[in-house]
Amino acid sequence: MVVSELGTGRASVSAPAGRIPPQVVWHDLECGGYRADLPLWRELAQRSGDPVLDAGAGAGRVSLDLARAGHAVTALDLDPILLATLGERAAGLAIETVCADARSFALDRRDFGACLMPMQTIQLLGGAAGRLAFLRHAREHVRPGGVIACAILSALEPFDCSDGAPGPAAERAHVDGLLYLSRATRVSELAHTVVIERERRVIGDRPDAPGGPAERVRRPDGRPERDLIELDRVSARELEREGREAGLDPLGRREVPATDEHVGSVVVVLGV
Ligand SMILES: C[S@@+](CC[C@H](N)C(=O)[O-])C[C@H]1O[C@@H](n2cnc3c(N)ncnc32)[C@H](O)[C@@H]1O
Repeated sequence: MVVSELGTGRASVSAPAGRIPPQVVWHDLECGGYRADLPLWRELAQRSGDPVLDAGAGAGRVSLDLARAGHAVTALDLDPILLATLGERAAGLAIETVCADARSFALDRRDFGACLMPMQTIQLLGGAAGRLAFLRHAREHVRPGGVIACAILSALEPFDCSDGAPGPAAERAHVDGLLYLSRATRVSELAHTVVIERERRVIGDRPDAPGGPAERVRRPDGRPERDLIELDRVSARELEREGREAGLDPLGRREVPATDEHVGSVVVVLGV
């Protein structure tokens, strides 16, 4: 999960024909501009060989980058709307999409060179049981000598400006006549989870917005919507232990440093 700290970035959202579903806009705005981890996924894909399984692929930030670099990719996600968008964006590229739960999927092919789980998605799987279920299923689909690599949050600096105190500036995107604004307002570390809170606003910015006036301003009272994400806390050591329990060999850890706009992560690499 990316937490915008300076909020200077603007997501460039290219609209396919028709209206882009709001969840795709938020996903693009909050995740789509992140690039710091892409060289590592390319390196792992290059080293392990095709095909590559992108688990929790979303709207395709990593899948599209790998496919543009020439890799054959299977993009798996629970969310059919994000996957449909990925499918549209993948026109002409070697990407297959699969709508499935990463904790219980069963694909025909079991010869993946690498299974990648970017952007802390492993921390969204419902705790240790969910992570173990994913690792076991991933192992069944990756050929011997291949790798499973998962990004987890590295050290965080909690903050709270949910009471209106100054904090990160909003990231923004103009899509379909609407201005979407998203701003991280709180990061809290609890005993078992990290809570990330964002303030989201949608404002009409063009009189010709599709859908008419009712759609131009979703919250006429000006109040923002709050979006809360809870990530399970897990350390690299715990994830490696769970990997061993799933029959995998820890092969090392890689760091994706924090940038001005995004928190850093540790990528745990497990061998099959
Ligand atoms: C933080 S986003 C990351 C998207 C993409 N991998 C990226 O790096 O831009 C997490 C994604 O994981 C998906 N996801 C969450 N739980 C999942 C599960 N149990 N099985 C498959 N996908 C899941 C969500 O739908 C979402 O698209």
